[in-house]
Amino acid sequence: MSEINIAVITGANSGVGFGTAQRLLQHSEDNPTERIKLVLACRNPTRAANARSALLKEHPKSEIDIVILDVSLVKSVFACCAELKKKYRKIDWLFCNAGILSCDYVDYGIACKELIINPRRLLTATKCVVQPKGRVTGEGLGETFACNIFGHYVMIHELEDLLAASKEARIIWTGSSTAAKNYYDAQDYQCLTGEFPYESSKYITDLIAVALNSRMNSRKIYTFVTHPGVVATNIVRDHLNWFMAKVMHTALYMARFLGVNEETVTSWNGSFSNYYVATTKPIESLKRTVKYGSYIKPWGVTYVHEDPMDYYDEKEANDLLNKLDELLAEFQMKYQN
Ligand SMILES: NC(=O)c1ccc[n+]([C@@H]2O[C@H](COP(=O)([O-])OP(=O)(O)OC[C@H]3O[C@@H](n4cnc5c(N)ncnc54)[C@H](OP(=O)(O)O)[C@@H]3O)[C@@H](O)[C@H]2O)c1
Repeated sequence: MSEINIAVITGANSGVGFGTAQRLLQHSEDNPTERIKLVLACRNPTRAANARSALLKEHPKSEIDIVILDVSLVKSVFACCAELKKKYRKIDWLFCNAGILSCDYVDYGIACKELIINPRRLLTATKCVVQPKGRVTGEGLGETFACNIFGHYVMIHELEDLLAASKEARIIWTGSSTAAKNYYDAQDYQCLTGEFPYESSKYITDLIAVALNSRMNSRKIYTFVTHPGVVATNIVRDHLNWFMAKVMHTALYMARFLGVNEETVTSWNGSFSNYYVATTKPIESLKRTVKYGSYIKPWGVTYVHEDPMDYYDEKEANDLLNKLDELLAEFQMKYQN
């Protein structure tokens, strides 16, 4: 019997993470020589158990474990990685997927303005979700930075030997098409004073995902960045009331019908790029300096597009990695000595 492959997915209990889990289990079922065991890395035990039950209902013979992880807290990341190291000999895929888009309030004035001036923007990269400024975690890190970036960075560091034990490990970050250089300030990389911590974190995601390759490829660990298009998940739904959530959902379908190819809408469609990057062979056929995006035709056929990352700046990326290493060293001193 072939060796089983281990896939760890952060934030696997809903949205794009759940869609990725579904796709990997389907792949495992369709390809008995490429069996996959899933590890759902989630912060809430009940939501994780519900997701596991739902996945087992679809794929009763599958193997699915749960580990508890609050990726925004370094202490929890260390504990989770210690558990993973105890349980598994190797990791073949690490999906750095969990993420938040914090919201102070939804500015319906901005939404109306966008609707009139630039409706495409309203449905792909709206600014009507007003994010809180300067919110920090219990450990003093910028909240969005901690969850979307740093917790995953610590995980990669802690799990490097397990990843290197795979024949060919892939780290796949869920990025966003909204990432852009103008949201990033190297002096304020945790975005404690900026207005757009989410977009800043997604720009950082792109930098890290590309830059880590030069550090890790020699150990046969490869990192990639994807984006899911626009999916109607809790990340935005949680900030809307029932009625507005329905309006958004309907509007996304209408936009797709009118040719807005980012409107993947469902988690299954949105997770296509994650699945594509996870399973495409040989690995050399994948590029490391593009972002693999999920897109969709008006009639619902999903496809992957290689979005260029012309803004990638190697010096900027390496300077950032050095800062993350310094931060990591501080937390290692605090928790591991
Ligand atoms: N939806 C989109 O249109 C879109 C577009 C571009 C990029 N993305 C990216 O896709 C990724 C997944 O988001 P989604 O859209 O699927 O939203 P979602 O349904 O809200 O999923 C987010 C997942 O992350 C988990 N999570 C949040 N904070 C966490 C923490 N501190 N520790 C551990 N897990 C945590 C959530 O767990 P709980 O259920 O416990 O909250 C949930 O499982 C994110 O990185 C997001 O930025 C989404």
